[in-house]
Amino acid sequence: MSGAIKWGILGLGKIAHKFASDLILIQDCELKAIASSSEDRAKIFANKYGLETFYGSYNDLYEDESIDVIYIASLNQNHHGHVIQAIKHGKAVLCEKPLAINCRQAKEMLNCARVNQIFLMEAIWTRFNPTFEQILRWINKGAIGKLRYINATFSFNGLNNDLDSRLFNPAKGGGSLLDVGIYPLFLSLSVLGKPNNIKASAVLSETGVDEQIGMLLTYDQSQAILYSSYAHNEDMRATICGEKGEIYLDSRWHETANLKLVQEGKIYKKTFDFIGKGYSYEIEEVNWCLRNKKTESTKWSLQQSLDLVKLMDQIRKQTGIHYPMD
Ligand SMILES: NC(=O)c1ccc[n+]([C@@H]2O[C@H](COP(=O)([O-])OP(=O)(O)OC[C@H]3O[C@@H](n4cnc5c(N)ncnc54)[C@H](OP(=O)(O)O)[C@@H]3O)[C@@H](O)[C@H]2O)c1
Repeated sequence: MSGAIKWGILGLGKIAHKFASDLILIQDCELKAIASSSEDRAKIFANKYGLETFYGSYNDLYEDESIDVIYIASLNQNHHGHVIQAIKHGKAVLCEKPLAINCRQAKEMLNCARVNQIFLMEAIWTRFNPTFEQILRWINKGAIGKLRYINATFSFNGLNNDLDSRLFNPAKGGGSLLDVGIYPLFLSLSVLGKPNNIKASAVLSETGVDEQIGMLLTYDQSQAILYSSYAHNEDMRATICGEKGEIYLDSRWHETANLKLVQEGKIYKKTFDFIGKGYSYEIEEVNWCLRNKKTESTKWSLQQSLDLVKLMDQIRKQTGIHYPMD
């Protein structure tokens, strides 16, 4: 691929703005076009980022031949359909988390990408930031010894959102698990792999999705205690403990620039300068993959996305959370 990689954004909500602000900081790519279900929203977005091309229809973005890759920033219930349409039009795709509502959808999306030999990646942005790369380096070189325990949570008070919102409506894939519980699960899956056993328990809202949920993952010789919630605020730190030391991720851990490594009582602190808010690193990973003709990332593979959605399916089964798409 020669020249700047041309990005399009589909769905212009809150996350699309954060993503666009980071994308325009990166050298070898260009935000070329955007699409919304509302032409007015597309026009306002285009004016804000100085874009010439905006569409009031997703189809126009799929059919725009100048676009190499589409960032899908629509609501959870639409990821499946939008990803498949984009791939069928030959576009590489970066899709917001959760990639899919359930395992069946995820398998269909992965299959579509593989059959068409098109790049697909879930936007688990934490995985690509320099903080997380440092954590993996420490763990891989044995800085904290054999891993024994992870604690990670993700909560905020979303109780003032109405029951039809993306937070609480089951038809929109609502509930804290798919929205923010996915981050603690991602941490555990990335660092410890697939658990042998899961025990989960949830407090459900009147719409039947989880307002708060606790998860205990057990491995051969380690455990992860994970939690997410829409019912209260908290400072959101995470801890990874090994037999020889610990890694502490500062608040809010999924986007932190600050790490603390403790080894035999000695404390080492590390702070990173982020490019933008941190969405830049997943964008750079996609650019690198496209330039190197990859159809998936090795840092966050399609199998890992599938494993993640399988864990969420299992947790939902245990806690009685059902979606119309199931
Ligand atoms: N990675 C992260 O840090 C992060 C953070 C938040 C959310 N997310 C994920 O990103 C996805 C979208 O979340 P979001 O927070 O951006 O949701 P949102 O702000 O509610 O926007 C969702 C969709 O609603 C439409 N929309 C935007 N403003 C609207 C309005 N005023 N009236 C009616 N529709 C409107 C947009 O599509 P159209 O413009 O096409 O209508 C947009 O794609 C979700 O899958 C979520 O899980 C990721």
